[in-house]
Amino acid sequence: MGFSSSCSLFKHHLIISFVINIAIITISHVNGCFTSIFSFGDSLTDTGNLHQLSLSESKKLSHFDFPPYGRTFFGYPTGRCSDGSLVIDFIAEDFGFPFLAPYFGGENGKPRNIENGVNFAIAGATALDDVFFKERGIHNPLTNGSLGVQLGYFKDVLPSFCSSSSDCKDFLKKSLIVMGEIGGNDYNYAFLQGKKHCGDSTLCSSCC
Ligand SMILES: *[C@@H]1O[C@H](CO)[C@@H](O)[C@H](O)[C@H]1NC(C)=O
Repeated sequence: MGFSSSCSLFKHHLIISFVINIAIITISHVNGCFTSIFSFGDSLTDTGNLHQLSLSESKKLSHFDFPPYGRTFFGYPTGRCSDGSLVIDFIAEDFGFPFLAPYFGGENGKPRNIENGVNFAIAGATALDDVFFKERGIHNPLTNGSLGVQLGYFKDVLPSFCSSSSDCKDFLKKSLIVMGEIGGNDYNYAFLQGKKHCGDSTLCSSCC
């Protein structure tokens, strides 16, 4: 079974993510001083990274890179795993920021329009690194851009925003870091590929 059925599996994550994000927005209204948003996650948050990666690596595009995805929001597919806006779009909108630019797809190796932050989320990403799954015979057909890899991209791009460590500390104080949703795919791929929970020594050799 491919990724095509996974969007429906994400429903419960969407609800959790939504509740968390409401909390973040509420905090921001109390605080009211964020100047940037940095976002990490998977298909619930990706605003175009997997799409760009697939194009640049000449990989097969995903079903959500084609209509009817994007028909309602933007009018064309953007790589969002949705026909409408994502929670991260509402957050950016609420702050009066432009929609968060995906990390990939810019020019000269830099994301476009990073003034108000960057979105590092990649559809299909896992929280744990790809090697964890490889060792257990679980294949991620979409990306090796795990949360750790996304955090690495953040480190790479941070010097575009601040220079000295105290400068960066001040900058990060004014940045909203949106972590997730991430982790659902860590289970999805294993289950879709027929791995069982702790009873299966292939999947879970060390955790039982
Ligand atoms: C992830 O995959 C890309 C190509 O698809 C490759 O260039 C890169 O080295 C891989 N990264 C890791 C950490 O495996």
